[in-house]
Amino acid sequence: MRQAKTDVELRGVKVPAGAFVAALIGSANRDEQVFPDPDRFDIDRERQVGLSFGHGVHFCVGAALARAEARIGIEVLASLPGRFERAGRAPEWNLSLLLRGLKACWIRYVL
Ligand code: HEM
Repeated sequence: MRQAKTDVELRGVKVPAGAFVAALIGSANRDEQVFPDPDRFDIDRERQVGLSFGHGVHFCVGAALARAEARIGIEVLASLPGRFERAGRAPEWNLSLLLRGLKACWIRYVL
């Protein structure tokens, strides 16, 4: 959430001083003017920088740690013999408007 210090206009929308604005990161990361075919997972995208860790002066302090944890975790899982497949149960999503993500995704490890 951000609060406007002064009257401001954002893309034709007038935001009066004192009003609160919620930036929807998930929506920004799927901006089709920036990311073609935004709902397709494409690990080779030319432009990979999204807004998941914020932007500007409040950019996430833990971004390097979070990226390292994800990279190490994925590298370890990918190096295991066998394969992973979705187990029968449907994935569970968190219900947050601001930070959408999986709460649980049931995976079976098959050797
Ligand atoms: C995948 C994991 C993470 C995501 C998606 C994430 C996302 C974000 C986002 C979007 C912001 C900006 C909030 C805003 O502008 O209002 C932020 C700020 C912040 N994050 Fe993270 N974060 C993650 C992990 C971490 C970790 C591991 C740490 C600490 C070890 C951390 C510490 C912080 C701090 C201290 C701020 C505030 C920075 C400031 O206001 O100057 N985050 N994070």
